[in-house]
Amino acid sequence: MPANKSLLVLPGDGIGPEVMGQVRRVVDWMDKRRAVTFDLAEDLVGGAAIDAHGIPVTDATVEKAMNVDAVLLGAVGGPKWDNLDFSKKPERGLLRLRKDLQLYANLRPALCFEALVDASTLKPEIVSGLDIMIVRELTGGVYFGEPRGIETLPNGERRGVNTQVYTTSEIRRVAAVAFELARKRSGRVTSCEKANVMESGVLWREEVQRLHDESFQDVELSHMYADNAAMQLVRNPKQFDVIVTDNLFGDILSDEASMLTGSLGMLPSASLGDVDETGRRKAMYEPVHGSAPDIAGQGKANPIATVLSLAMALRYSFDLAEDADLVEAAVERVLAKGIRTADIQAPGSQVVSTGQMGDALLAELEAMAA
Ligand code: IPM
Ligand code: MG
Repeated sequence: MPANKSLLVLPGDGIGPEVMGQVRRVVDWMDKRRAVTFDLAEDLVGGAAIDAHGIPVTDATVEKAMNVDAVLLGAVGGPKWDNLDFSKKPERGLLRLRKDLQLYANLRPALCFEALVDASTLKPEIVSGLDIMIVRELTGGVYFGEPRGIETLPNGERRGVNTQVYTTSEIRRVAAVAFELARKRSGRVTSCEKANVMESGVLWREEVQRLHDESFQDVELSHMYADNAAMQLVRNPKQFDVIVTDNLFGDILSDEASMLTGSLGMLPSASLGDVDETGRRKAMYEPVHGSAPDIAGQGKANPIATVLSLAMALRYSFDLAEDADLVEAAVERVLAKGIRTADIQAPGSQVVSTGQMGDALLAELEAMAA
């Protein structure tokens, strides 16, 4: 019997608990029907942790996250906590987890399911067959750079400061992840920065190129300014295979890429760190979407991004490619039947609730396993 896989579930805020509820049903199903058992623990993050403990994530939770095979996170934030001091906001919990676990490589696939070609705001021929992987640097750049803060100047004016900063090793390790992924895909990497205006962008471009020339000459590398990449993503997204970029540009470009696929409610992500002494790669999986407070608690949320995040955990943390394929196939089959949550509805489709989407996914899993 293989050892149990340990999974820490952090549902978070807003629609987080609702979508995670459906993921737990999938995990339960796997426990029963597949040759894999999970040791599953659940804890608080974001606003939920603020309400219970006064801070967006406790040391104990971070410690737990450090010691499991994978963390699965829902979403954080909401209007209730908007007026808190910056350092106490729900988002800080998520950022601390990313930083403390050193999850520097954020994989955000933008894949257009054939059944959803018409859900995109772009023409079907532009998005049909789309399959891009955005690799976003996640623990550096302007998100964490020092100095940062807001100060009042002697003349009474205020001044806000953030610092965009990258070192050679920070750039090389995330670029290596992108090159390695490209080798398993169509072998092309586009690196995006603003080398025309930022020194950190010049360094980014040079270091990515150097690593390529040293170790990844079999991969085709091109460089693109991030603003041009934003434009090219809506003009002709299928020109891209793997995109590697910094923390802030990656945040923006991945939101943009997600809409190519029809809905933010569809996109999973994996945040990966280095492999430690025990051979375990620290990892956290989360949907790209946020906590969507406007629809929270109404059963309208699309659980697919979080379910697909579980599939990514199966693939990248647990080496269970077959089970990952099964979950992804269930999503495809449900969509092909026209079963849709509100965010991806189309003329003639059947609009269902979060729980009904979960029912439909489980029914497909069961049908395939039978
Ligand atoms: C994301 C989110 C986060 C980010 C927020 C919630 C801090 O937008 O994961 O893309 O900016 O990284
Ligand atoms: Mg974002």
